[in-house]
Amino acid sequence: MYSKEVPATIQSMFNTIAKRYDLTNALLSLTMHSHWNKKFISLLPQQSSPHHLIDLCAGTGDITFRYLKKNKIPCHAYLIDFSSEMLAFAKKKAQKISHLTSQKVSYIESDVQNIPLPHQFAECATVAYGIRNVQNIPNFLNEVLRLLKPGGCFAILELTQPQHPFLRWGHRLYLKTILPLFGKYAAANKEAYQYLCQSIQHFIAPKQLEIVLKDRGFENISIHPLMGGIATIILCYKSK
Ligand SMILES: C[S@@+](CC[C@H](N)C(=O)[O-])C[C@H]1O[C@@H](n2cnc3c(N)ncnc32)[C@H](O)[C@@H]1O
Repeated sequence: MYSKEVPATIQSMFNTIAKRYDLTNALLSLTMHSHWNKKFISLLPQQSSPHHLIDLCAGTGDITFRYLKKNKIPCHAYLIDFSSEMLAFAKKKAQKISHLTSQKVSYIESDVQNIPLPHQFAECATVAYGIRNVQNIPNFLNEVLRLLKPGGCFAILELTQPQHPFLRWGHRLYLKTILPLFGKYAAANKEAYQYLCQSIQHFIAPKQLEIVLKDRGFENISIHPLMGGIATIILCYKSK
């Protein structure tokens, strides 16, 4: 439950790959991540009044911007990430999105295990492809609980390992052969893609994560595997 890499190593790795992050993401997932992100947003509870969304490990902001595009109710969204470069790309993206004028967006450069925001102020928190990088997951979950209002939703989207033996074999082959080759030649960053493979393989299974979430006090937990479990969405709520 603890990422082997220290936060500073992960932070500097994301700063290095930020420039090509969106493109490599699209190539490596064969654009599937776009469908997964869309599904993720569609599962978030609809808000009926002005609200706050916190996008944890927000990166270049895809989740926030998709959410704000779909949501018609005034929202103040906070993108939280410790990579200044990833957030810089998110800011650039925001300038090109005209529908953001009616919504408010703030960028906070911070470790998600210790966020400079007040208690119980957000209706919804998201973390997409980020939780497996976090060093101490119980601490992180405590921080999410601190920030959420009672009854608030916490939504996780993460790359996971499929359960079906054949799919699992194909998935492992992809992680061990294609992904490292891509990292070496296309992205010119062997270490980052090695880390990506390892972090997927070492991350706890959704069922185990469900136990940890329950343990911290989250309730109404539902698990939604995508494409046989290559990715998984977990939704849960802070008690009222
Ligand atoms: C794989 S990217 C995901 C970005 C984005 N959520 C998306 O959907 O594309 C993971 C992000 O998590 C950030 N990150 C990892 N560990 C973090 C931590 N402890 N605190 C803050 N940000 C973190 C990285 O800087 C990176 O931008």
